[in-house]
Order: sequence, then C-alpha cells, then structure tokens
Amino acid sequence: MKNKKIVAGLALVAGLSLPALALASTDAEEPMQPPGGWPQDGIIGAHFDRQAAQRGFQVYKEVCHNCHSLKYVAFRNLEDLGFNEAEVKAIAAGFMVQGEPDSDTGEVKDRPGKPFDHIPSPFPNPEAAAASNNGAVPPDLSLMAKAREGGPSHIYSVLQGYKTPTAEELKELPGGKVPEGSYYNPYKAGHVIAMPPPLSDGLVQYGDGQPQPTVQQMAYDVSTFLAWAAEPKLEQRKRMGFFYEILLLIVCGLLFASYKRISKRVLGH
Ligand code: HEC
Repeated sequence: MKNKKIVAGLALVAGLSLPALALASTDAEEPMQPPGGWPQDGIIGAHFDRQAAQRGFQVYKEVCHNCHSLKYVAFRNLEDLGFNEAEVKAIAAGFMVQGEPDSDTGEVKDRPGKPFDHIPSPFPNPEAAAASNNGAVPPDLSLMAKAREGGPSHIYSVLQGYKTPTAEELKELPGGKVPEGSYYNPYKAGHVIAMPPPLSDGLVQYGDGQPQPTVQQMAYDVSTFLAWAAEPKLEQRKRMGFFYEILLLIVCGLLFASYKRISKRVLGH
C-alpha cells in the first residue's frame, strides 16, 4: 500500500518534470548540416576539406578575429592545413603579438608574430572585450566546434540563422521582444544573440578569379576551419579507431575458431 503511494508520487513528479525538460531541450533549433554533410564526419575516409579550411582561416582572420580570440592555435599549426613555411611566416608577421620584456627596462612592446606564437586576442582583457560588445564577451573559438551540441553544424547554422522574428516567435521571448543591442537567431539557446550578423554575401574576397562567396559558403568554410582548430588530430583518431575495430574483429574470429576446435575435441561436437 505504502509502496504504491511512493510509486504513484514518483510517477507524478516524473510526469510533471518531463514537459519542463522538453521545453528546455527544444530551446535552440536543431542545427542545419551543409548539403553534402561534413567530410570529417563518419569513420572511413573522414578528412578535413583543407581548401575550405584555408578559406575559413581567411574568414576568421578578416572577420571573426575582430572580436574572437583563438588562443589554442599557434601559427605553425596552420601548416597542417597546407600552408607552407613561408606562408605561415607571412601570416604570423601580419599579426601584432605581445613581445618579450626588455632585459634592461622590463618594458613590454608588441612585435610582429612568429610561427611559434599563438593567435593573439583582439582585446587586451575580457573587460575591454565586453566594453566593445554591448557587455557580452565574445567567447574564444578554439574549442567552439566541440563545446556546442551539433559541433560545426551549430556554428554553420548560427552564422546563417539571423532573421526577423514572426509575431509568434516574438511572443516566446521574455518580455515579448528582442533586447536592445541583441539579434534574433533561433539556433542560439534562448533565440537571442549579442553577436551582430558577422557575414554578408561577398564580404570576404577569396583569391583571384574565385566567385564572390555567399554567406553559406563562408559559413561552411569558417566552420570547417573551426572544426579543424578544435580537433586537429581527428583524422588520425578515426583512422586508429577503424584499425582497432578491424583488429578486434580478427581477434574475435580467432577466438571463435579456437573455441570451436576445443569444444570439438573436449565435447565431441
Ligand atoms: C562584432 C563582434 C563579433 C564578430 C565580428 C563576430 N562575433 Fe561571434 N560573437 C560575438 C559575441 C559578442 C558573442 C556572444 C554572443 C552571446 O553570448 O549572446 C559571439 C558568439 C559567437 C558564437 C557562440 C554562439 C553560441 O551558441 O553561444 C559563435 C559560434 C561565434 N560567435 C562565431 C563567430 C564567427 C565564426 C565569426 C566570424 C564569421 C564571428 N563570430 C564574428 C561577437 C562577434
């Protein structure tokens, strides 16, 4: 009798909290995948589209770097994307980084970057970053492609997801409106984002003779670049994973064969 009551009570609590959970988890819209998917997804033949990642680095450098740091990436890491040594040197030299303290005066001066430097933050400190962005600190993008559900698809979707909300969508926001200095974007949890739409068609000029990139193209390229930045060793990990799967299959086969032989000898069948 008592147990029944407890069970009924638990069921009631579970029943009441389920709709709340469902509401919380449907908050950010399911991210979009690019039409052909991501070449780095899957097991067999998973690889980064390095041409896209190189263009994505250009998008990062010219657009996102105005607000976002990328502190875990050193310039020399970019060689993995197919930039050669001279190109990496030139890229690094295009950024100013904090130099070493002067041995006599202790004074620290900025100097052009070198391949071993990490990509510097566009702001000297988080307070300065917040002050330039309406109070919101642009997060470091090094691990962004792993930090959000959907990975690179999340970034890809947020970059393309800005829109004017319908009356229906406005009603769902706290206070029924998009706060001053923020933007409507259903792919962001809460549907309101403090980042102004960073991309517009043709914003970045890709190399000579290439067509003007669309927002979708730049979103694809920069999301590929950030997926690489968040896990540069993804390809090796997947290759090793596949190798161990095969190994495991062979070992299982061998075990089964020897079990068959032994059971035949011992049990006669
Ligand atoms: C003018 C400054 C500015 C620029 C330029 C900018 N961002 Fe942002 N970004 C922000 C701010 C501020 C936030 C924090 C938004 C928030 O928390 O509401 C943000 C947040 C983000 C987020 C996290 C979204 C989430 O789900 O929380 C991603 C991803 C992102 N930016 C990617 C980019 C990329 C990629 C570029 C370049 C194409 C870029 N940003 C350019 C200011 C900027």
